[in-house]
Amino acid sequence: MANALGIVSPSVHCFRRRNRAPLGLHGSEKKTAFICLAAADGGVEGRVLDSASSRSYRPRAVGMGSKLVGCGSAVPKLLISNDDLAQIVETSDEWISVRTGIRNRRVLSGNETLGGLAVDAAKGALQMAHVEAEEVDLVIMCTSTPDDLFGCGAQVQRDLGCKNAWAFDITAACSGFVVGLISATRFIKGGGFQNILVVGGDVLSRYVDWTDRGTCILFGDAAGAVLVQACGNDEDGLLGFDLHSDGHGQRQLNAPAKDDDSNFISNNNGTSLFPPKKSSYSCIQMNGKEVFRFAVRCVPQSIEAALEEAGLTSSSIDWLLLHQANQRIIDAVATRLEIPSDKVISNLANYGNTSAASIPLALDEAVRTGKVQAGNTIATAGFGAGLTWGSVIMRWK
Ligand code: UT7
Repeated sequence: MANALGIVSPSVHCFRRRNRAPLGLHGSEKKTAFICLAAADGGVEGRVLDSASSRSYRPRAVGMGSKLVGCGSAVPKLLISNDDLAQIVETSDEWISVRTGIRNRRVLSGNETLGGLAVDAAKGALQMAHVEAEEVDLVIMCTSTPDDLFGCGAQVQRDLGCKNAWAFDITAACSGFVVGLISATRFIKGGGFQNILVVGGDVLSRYVDWTDRGTCILFGDAAGAVLVQACGNDEDGLLGFDLHSDGHGQRQLNAPAKDDDSNFISNNNGTSLFPPKKSSYSCIQMNGKEVFRFAVRCVPQSIEAALEEAGLTSSSIDWLLLHQANQRIIDAVATRLEIPSDKVISNLANYGNTSAASIPLALDEAVRTGKVQAGNTIATAGFGAGLTWGSVIMRWK
């Protein structure tokens, strides 16, 4: 079978079959799971240890369905237009909009942070879902550009006041939100979690080479969030999914770590001992044409696999909502799946490629403008660095 870049490789299977998790809730399957409790503010030792001693264990019902009950999004204030970029690199509004569909993007400025955007997006999702911060039991932060090397899920949890939740980060580039969403449904089905915030956020502007016209025109910063809630199996809104990765394609899209080991550490006698590695990340490097080809070939296959698991066909979905990378990719995938353009959600003209944020950002806009209605079925897919790609078929509410 061909890998993501179309090279023959035995290791990648486009239509991988999975054993389905048992759906019924049986007494013997009920389990008690550990909840890691964190203090909402300060006092790690006192607050965490006190709460953990009283509330470490909570009975959980496993085998539940999951549904999306709220969404939210946030973007930075600073808007950069194509004309602005044409003053920095040799390009034009016409070239960018014809080749990509992008006209504007938002970029972090001042004291804005990824964490701040993530918290604002998550607040919107909680508000729409009528769920209090204390009722959330897991925050999944999907990002490749955290404010801290060690991730920022726990900081988002802290700033939201989700004091009964634990949190972790997922790094899967532009597929991050899809991976996070699927992970949330597994925690509900297999772990009995009730309310999970899935936040997709990225601030790739931190790693853009503003002298490279092949990449700087594409990316923008944003965050989007959904609240995934446990429900009965009859209401299950996550209908099918499909996930892939292929590291052979890493060379086509990356931002590798780079080490500066030019300064030696000396001992007390002034003798040089070793050069410590002071590392940072390179700017984003991309072979646009190869990534384009990969997306147009692999994304329709992945959506078809997820549709098959859901027992649906492309003609029966209400909306196609792809990672917002390039309008030409979105159009090509829609054409392959024979989905008419009036069923395709797109907002990348205003925000560019916002990586892990793009799907929940577009979903939030579509829900709040009344486009996506309760009961609508959405086929969504993420794809990008790794290479990683995956799809989810989901019902809104
Ligand atoms: O979320 C991660 C996923 N990333 C993606 O999905 C990106 C996928 N790739 C793409 O979206 C497209 O490949 C790009 C938009 C990045 C590039 O479009 P393209 O149609 O593949 O252009 P190209 O790279 O083949 O370049 C065509 C020409 C070249 O000039 P020559 O060699 O024909 O003289 C480029 O130098 O366009 C030139 N070019 C530009 N011209 C004006 C490249 N970038 C620009 C630019 N403005 N910004």
